[in-house]
Amino acid sequence: MSTLTTKSLTEILSLVTEEVKSLDHRLIEDISPSSRALCSILQEIFKAGGKRLRPALSFLFAKALGKQVDENIYLIAEISELIHTASLVHDDIIDNSLIRRGQPTTNSKWDNAITVISGDFMFARAAVNLGKLANNDITALYAKVLEDLCDGEIRQVEKKFSTDVDWDYYYSKSYKKTASLFEAATKAPAIAFSLDSEIIQACADYGKYLGLAFQVIDDILDYSSDTETLGKPSCADLKEGQITIPVLCTLETLAARDVSAHKQLVEQIQNLAVEPDNKELTENILQTLKSCDAIEKSKAKAEDLVQKALNSLAVLKDSPYKTALKDLANFTLNRER
Ligand code: FPP
Ligand code: MG
Repeated sequence: MSTLTTKSLTEILSLVTEEVKSLDHRLIEDISPSSRALCSILQEIFKAGGKRLRPALSFLFAKALGKQVDENIYLIAEISELIHTASLVHDDIIDNSLIRRGQPTTNSKWDNAITVISGDFMFARAAVNLGKLANNDITALYAKVLEDLCDGEIRQVEKKFSTDVDWDYYYSKSYKKTASLFEAATKAPAIAFSLDSEIIQACADYGKYLGLAFQVIDDILDYSSDTETLGKPSCADLKEGQITIPVLCTLETLAARDVSAHKQLVEQIQNLAVEPDNKELTENILQTLKSCDAIEKSKAKAEDLVQKALNSLAVLKDSPYKTALKDLANFTLNRER
């Protein structure tokens, strides 16, 4: 079982504060499209903050591998953040979300056409950076991330309000939506430094398991936190018909314990598809989740994933950077947003 950390995210990432600041400068000041509207949209988006977790992971891995954060690592960090942010900009159109990172979303201030193109521009800039890196393996890695993001998102749309979901679906969708990009952020530095395949694989595994744990916690927070803390709408998944891990755990518990309660939950979810704003229905479903300890069971799954991420760090020599990577994995379990 992993040990818990009481360190804040800022403390954990303090070893790469300077690098994250430089990255912010590149994102806020150096990306300057000729369109004034696009320029101000991009500045607003990147000034709104964000955890910069994926870039920080690339910086920490470069250092934990005993290397310098050179221009290639900055390009990798920027590619990950651009792809992540672009996918959220597009996702907020799909989900019709009005708030992200505590700020009004681009789609709430501009029309969808401008918003889509702003996201597209970020994807394009990531591609420009891949050209600058000129490393075929890293290009292939991020091309697969883009494919995964689209595939994961479409599968999620297809499965809206469907209770015909299992663990394979949940983890495969979570890998594609979230963990694939985390994996690229931790694997790409090892590829850029031409390290042994065993090391590259271990770095990739850390990112993959951390990314999966991150998504599990995201799905838990949607139920257990509030909009102000999250900086985005809470309790949105059920309303949007996303059958995430707390519901999956509940369906599994009821299938083994009480067939008629299982049938009732399935029916309630189907009814919610017709009346997503029905408060009584939502409250009944939430009560069922609570009675089945859905949050606790989901958290246990996240702990297993974090343990796998920690195990993959065994190939790294001890260093403050390796400690930060351990702390970061443990922090994921306790994060509040
Ligand atoms: C957040 O999901 C969304 C993602 C992690 C990925 C979304 C991906 C796309 C929109 C496809 C990207 C397109 C290209 C061209 C690569 P969420 O709604 O569960 O999380 P949230 O609560 O943060 O909104
Ligand atoms: Mg969303």
